[in-house]
Amino acid sequence: MTDIDKQLFEAAEAVRARAYAPYSNFHVGAAVLADDGNIYAGCNVENAAYPVGNCAEPSAIAAMLAGGAKRIKRVYVTGPGSEPVTPCGGCRQRLREFADLDVTVISHGVEGEPLHATLGELLPHSFGPEFLDQNN
Ligand code: THU
Repeated sequence: MTDIDKQLFEAAEAVRARAYAPYSNFHVGAAVLADDGNIYAGCNVENAAYPVGNCAEPSAIAAMLAGGAKRIKRVYVTGPGSEPVTPCGGCRQRLREFADLDVTVISHGVEGEPLHATLGELLPHSFGPEFLDQNN
């Protein structure tokens, strides 16, 4: 594991310990390396009204924006078990807003091996901000 991936893993795991997931008991952490060189992390936050809960990835994106950074350069997601905890479909689209398609997303069920994939592999033929006239 490279030094940056070790830092991302540790940040994701540190925040995963603070996840609020009393309903699923599935604690997820996400860490992003941003264009300012900093790492921003977030956890899932569930709610008694189940659909209102949110995933770890948007929490990390919110932390990045709040910290003043704009773009995602690398992503690390951690969760329980031995199978890679890959971002859900909605989170792939949320990452797509702030990351190029060649950005590496590392998905890790911490009892197993991490899976490396690009965002473009996770979300092929995707729709993004450049499709909208106002962004052209
Ligand atoms: N979860 C995430 O935080 N990220 C994902 O990409 C997959 C799912 C959370 C949402 C919910 O709190 C729990 O995992 C079970 O689905």
